[in-house]
Amino acid sequence: MTATSQGALARQAPEAVLALSPDAHKLAGRIALITGAGRGAGRAHARLLAARGAAVAIVDIDEDVATATAAEIVEAGGKAIAVAADITDRGLAERLVANVAQQLGGLDILVHNAGLIYSMTGLEETDDANFDRLLAINIHAPLYLTRASLPYLRKSRAPRVIFINSQWGQVPDGHSYGYMVSKAGQLGLMKTLAKEFVGEGILVNAITPGAILTRMVPDQYIEAEKAAIPLGRLVHPEEIAAAVAFLASDEAAFITGQALPVNGGALVVGI
Ligand SMILES: NC(=O)c1ccc[n+]([C@@H]2O[C@H](COP(=O)([O-])OP(=O)(O)OC[C@H]3O[C@@H](n4cnc5c(N)ncnc54)[C@H](O)[C@@H]3O)[C@@H](O)[C@H]2O)c1
Repeated sequence: MTATSQGALARQAPEAVLALSPDAHKLAGRIALITGAGRGAGRAHARLLAARGAAVAIVDIDEDVATATAAEIVEAGGKAIAVAADITDRGLAERLVANVAQQLGGLDILVHNAGLIYSMTGLEETDDANFDRLLAINIHAPLYLTRASLPYLRKSRAPRVIFINSQWGQVPDGHSYGYMVSKAGQLGLMKTLAKEFVGEGILVNAITPGAILTRMVPDQYIEAEKAAIPLGRLVHPEEIAAAVAFLASDEAAFITGQALPVNGGALVVGI
């Protein structure tokens, strides 16, 4: 099948959705590459996509956590491989994606999740190397990985690219120039990709969470974060994963170029 006709297929309304099938959310036969999937939110995305039937590649710079998460999924009856890689390594993207596609048999879902813990500093204290590192992980790496994934996404029946962005990509909170600026730029990348590839049926979206219960939010900040969330609690990684699974599924076949807030009502005027 040519790329064009496959793209046309990806633009069709999914039959399972039209039939109101209770299985329309399932991901059987799909192949996902998830960055930063060894721990935190990425681990939850990997476990849920695998539970819904996808084969998942757990890509993480930390080999131990990547291996542990893949083993956990396999033990639970799912299909997963661990890939130790620094996604900011410019030269690696094509080999990384080709390796995953070869081992798992293709690629349908690319989740840009890996992120860096950051500290709040004003402009004058901003460390240039840290600023560059945040741009590299939040903008450069997703750009290279998405480009490297195109040949495989073009062969997919339901190709998806999903960014784990942040509500702070839209509204700066305090000051971490590298984090806020790179997440804002990442939303621009998401929309630009969505626009360029919509004709090929490749759907590109982002999720914009508030503070998630992972190591990225140290214990001493939890109470202050809670106070800013109308639902009065922090979100669990599994609740972000539920949004990833939805955007990856046939149920989201008419959604592209969007940023989905999973933030307990934060940033809503009037709450
Ligand atoms: N935790 C939050 O409050 C929060 C809020 C909004 C958005 N986010 C976003 O959610 C995503 C996941 O964050 P988390 O809270 O699970 O963080 P985490 O630190 O728990 O997990 C991030 C994972 O990414 C991996 N990683 C880091 N650099 C990498 C690299 N160069 N190559 C490959 N892997 C790398 C780490 O080893 C780690 O396993 C990030 O994009 C983050 O910005 C987090």
